[in-house]
Amino acid sequence: MSVKAKIGPSILNADLSQLYEESEKLLKNGADYLHLDVMDGTFVPNLTFGHPVVKCLRSKIKDAFFETHMMVQRPQQWIESMADAGVDQYTFHIEPVLDDVDEICRKVREAGMKVGLAIKPGTDLEAVTKYIPIADMILIMTVEPGFGGQKFMANQMPKVEWLRKNYPSLDIEVDGGVGPETIHQCAKAGANMIVSGTAVIRSENQKETISYLRNSVQSAIDA
Ligand code: DX5
Ligand code: ZN
Repeated sequence: MSVKAKIGPSILNADLSQLYEESEKLLKNGADYLHLDVMDGTFVPNLTFGHPVVKCLRSKIKDAFFETHMMVQRPQQWIESMADAGVDQYTFHIEPVLDDVDEICRKVREAGMKVGLAIKPGTDLEAVTKYIPIADMILIMTVEPGFGGQKFMANQMPKVEWLRKNYPSLDIEVDGGVGPETIHQCAKAGANMIVSGTAVIRSENQKETISYLRNSVQSAIDA
């Protein structure tokens, strides 16, 4: 396998009045990238922040890799503004835009960002497999998107296993309820990009938790 283990903390459950400080702390403690959860109150029953906030964060953090997880009804609407805000990877849910996935991928790439495609727990893997050749990463949600701190859904692991078996060098991300207690299931299934919110933010030793998560995944890759 040629993929690398990467840990991308989600700042959703951090103290958002201290977004910059919290982000810097995560990066200093070994985060490989930042996973920024954008919600529009329509695709999911919650609201977070959009490109103006991401742009402010980027103005202070120049060199970290920013992934925006677009839990929005119209991902096509925010491509240019997120590119302008300095986003590196635009990961969007295919569910609300099934007829337009190709075109949205093309526009994201034209705007200079990497393409991530996300599916909810209830969405079959078949819905996304045909787009793998035009995507940089597939995100398998391990909770119903909308809120941090939910319970990890182990029944999503067969999707990860299938992807890894068929696409040895694909970046596969998991998101939702992932922490030291659930990381081994993700690692064994073959995920290499790990989003972890509550478990990292609330941990007493962020550095240790992040390196534990990364080592668990990297050992499974190297095995
Ligand atoms: C859920 C978000 C996740 C989530 C992760 O809708 O996409 O990124 O906040 O947080 P934890 O790890 O607490 O589930
Ligand atoms: Zn997320």
